[in-house]
Amino acid sequence: MLNLENVTKTFRPPASLGQEIVSLFGRRKETGAVLAVRNLSLQLKPGEILGLVGESGSGKSTLGRLMCGLYRPEAGRVIFEGRDLTTLDKREKQLLSLKIQFMFQDPASSLNPRLKARAALSEGLIIHHLGDRVQRRQTIDRLLEEVGLSPKLADRYPHQFSGGQRQRLCLARALSLNPSLLIADEPTSALDVSIQAQIIDLLLDLKAKRGLTMVLISHDLSLVCLMADRVAVMYGGQLMEVFPRRLLGQVEHHPYVKALWASADSATDDAFILDGEPPDPQNPPPGCPFHPRCPQADEICRTTIAPMKQLGPEYLGACHHLST
Ligand SMILES: Nc1ncnc2c1ncn2[C@@H]1O[C@H](COP(=O)(O)OP(=O)(O)O)[C@@H](O)[C@H]1O
Ligand SMILES: [Mg+2]
Repeated sequence: MLNLENVTKTFRPPASLGQEIVSLFGRRKETGAVLAVRNLSLQLKPGEILGLVGESGSGKSTLGRLMCGLYRPEAGRVIFEGRDLTTLDKREKQLLSLKIQFMFQDPASSLNPRLKARAALSEGLIIHHLGDRVQRRQTIDRLLEEVGLSPKLADRYPHQFSGGQRQRLCLARALSLNPSLLIADEPTSALDVSIQAQIIDLLLDLKAKRGLTMVLISHDLSLVCLMADRVAVMYGGQLMEVFPRRLLGQVEHHPYVKALWASADSATDDAFILDGEPPDPQNPPPGCPFHPRCPQADEICRTTIAPMKQLGPEYLGACHHLST
């Protein structure tokens, strides 16, 4: 379905602000550049929900945008249905939005406050010439019902909806072009806990009904484990582990995943607290990005990035101390 191959994305400040410092030893160091995603490979399977987890700043949203062609990787390839997204022209990119949709983190700011719900939902249909006026009206009514909103609300502006309703509206908009892949970035983090559960149920329901493939981005491992078929854990712009959800707690996990899981589930007895700070993306440590916080770190971890190893049939991990 979608393959990421050794994808890297760095954010650089505008040329006037970024400087290259030439150190005493003649080594050049770029200042202000943020290495958000580093040499990352991942394959999506059709029909699955992949949960993408990691602390804030670990590169999840950047990866999500790389997946749908909103960002261009500076190295590596993003292959969707056999096509490299990095080589598409403008027209092909537009057609891509019929296949892949991205739901932004903040429903309030991703909706134009001046557009009524019906207009917001029409945009994509009009751009892609899908149906005449009457047909679009029917499509939109159906979409609203599908996400649990009354079609009567179609003439309201975004601010007249509650947070949960706005997120439903964003979902309806993402579904309006009938995509096969939906990437949802923290779809519930702006919502009250009671509303979160409703949105999760809705996403699961839609996935089942439409046979969508979904990437669910969240900083919350327990939320991801409620929904995902597979879990991919990021740290410092890299993948630490990819495992089927049913293996959670059943295998020897990466030390970072152990720490995340321990803090999500206080019932585990070998819980240890995650001390220290996540790595500075402008100045990432050498070796494994997790080594400064890792209780198992030794010399090799401090110098060498651990390659992603196949540890089981569907189980991958990047840790020098994990073995098959
Ligand atoms: N548009 C951008 N310009 C500059 N830096 C960015 C931009 N987007 C993200 N970053 C930086 O890249 C890193 C990863 O960010 P992000 O992908 O948003 O992480 P997450 O979604 O896991 O919180 C962070 O250090 C963030 O500050
Ligand atoms: Mg994010």
